[in-house]
Amino acid sequence: MFTHRRVLISRGPRSGLPIIVAVHSTDRGQAIGGCRLTTYAGWRDGLDDALRLSAAMTGKAARAGLPHGGGKTVIALPPGVTLDDAGRRDALLDAGDAIAGLDGEYATGPDVGTGPADMLTIAERTPYVFCRPVESGGSGDSSPHTADGVMAALSCFGSARSFAVLGLGRVGERVARLLAGSGATLIVSDVDQSKRALADSLGATWAGPADCLTAEVDVLVPAALGGVLTPAVVPTLRCAAIAGPANNQLDSPATADLLRARGIRWAPDEIVSAGGIIYATGVELRHETPAQASARVAGIGDTLAAHLRSADLPK
Ligand code: PHE
Repeated sequence: MFTHRRVLISRGPRSGLPIIVAVHSTDRGQAIGGCRLTTYAGWRDGLDDALRLSAAMTGKAARAGLPHGGGKTVIALPPGVTLDDAGRRDALLDAGDAIAGLDGEYATGPDVGTGPADMLTIAERTPYVFCRPVESGGSGDSSPHTADGVMAALSCFGSARSFAVLGLGRVGERVARLLAGSGATLIVSDVDQSKRALADSLGATWAGPADCLTAEVDVLVPAALGGVLTPAVVPTLRCAAIAGPANNQLDSPATADLLRARGIRWAPDEIVSAGGIIYATGVELRHETPAQASARVAGIGDTLAAHLRSADLPK
């Protein structure tokens, strides 16, 4: 069934790249969701990702109680293509023009492969962009707030001492640092081998992604790309619980039942990963102070606790 409000696919006039803007829902208000700039085997894979991620943003905004729907932008790089500064700027301006054409139905923000400086470039073409640098009037990098939301979520697993953090990107790295600072036992992994130095400095055990995924820990923290929890993976897991910021961790909703059958508690990423949007929309749209917005991010702990209580009830 096609449930999206609108999907725009264009060839960026400057960059020649596929620019995909998927607006899933505006039922609760303006659709929001980040701009992903990353490599896909083909543009159709980028389209699939945009469709899935934008739908997940609708769920994320709703579970966070925000007056927003979900959307996502994907700039799909062909395999082997990397962008220099000028090419990156062209791609972002193309995305900005596509978003501008929606007249505020959708606003973007940072995501995998983009950050605050890129939001400033998009802002040259449209006002509907969150997380420009603080010195330029935005709320700045959202990843620390997403990480704080993950920490609030992890507080639901109070007795947890050991964690496996799968992915040390902007959010995963901060989560790993905060966990290490709290004295936790850590296993970490990343496809980027250069992150090994970070693991060493944190006193964490470095593992390959497959070993990290199946590590024997209290909580597995997926912090990289989606789709890691599949019917093939679930029987191999040795964690007691799963809670992390990666979007769309389940390959399909039914995989949640397989986790439940194994007695593994799963915290939906739609709840765990909402810190960035809670903070950015609070500060930029609702004029909350940074302290007020951070307090709302911490509320992810209560939201998740309520969810886990109802999930624990016998069905
Ligand atoms: N990457 C963010 C997310 O998935 C997107 C975002 C952050 C959008 C901040 C708006 C503001 O939630």
